[in-house]
Amino acid sequence: MPFLRLDKLINLYDGYRKTLKIDSFEVLLMQEDGEVFVVQSRCPHREYPLERGVISNGVITCPWHNMAFDLKTGNHRGGVCDRLRIYEPVFQDNLVGIVVET
Ligand code: FES
Repeated sequence: MPFLRLDKLINLYDGYRKTLKIDSFEVLLMQEDGEVFVVQSRCPHREYPLERGVISNGVITCPWHNMAFDLKTGNHRGGVCDRLRIYEPVFQDNLVGIVVET
């Protein structure tokens, strides 16, 4: 399982958001309150870019229709929308990335 580099740790700060294309999919790397999150880049509801989402108390809310997703589980808070895909951030030397199955 290869490590896919997303960014250098030195570049991260609270409020950081960056959408990155990896092969055939995109992920969104974010930092909020010192915590790093990696999720699918588009909302599972209607694919709005979550880079514009609002994070509060471990939940990201999509600004288009206000669907809210738990950043640990990916579950929709109301249970009516598909799950948000969550990736475990992996820290290696001075980098943050993800490990994906091939
Ligand atoms: S597209 Fe995100 S809530 Fe509808």
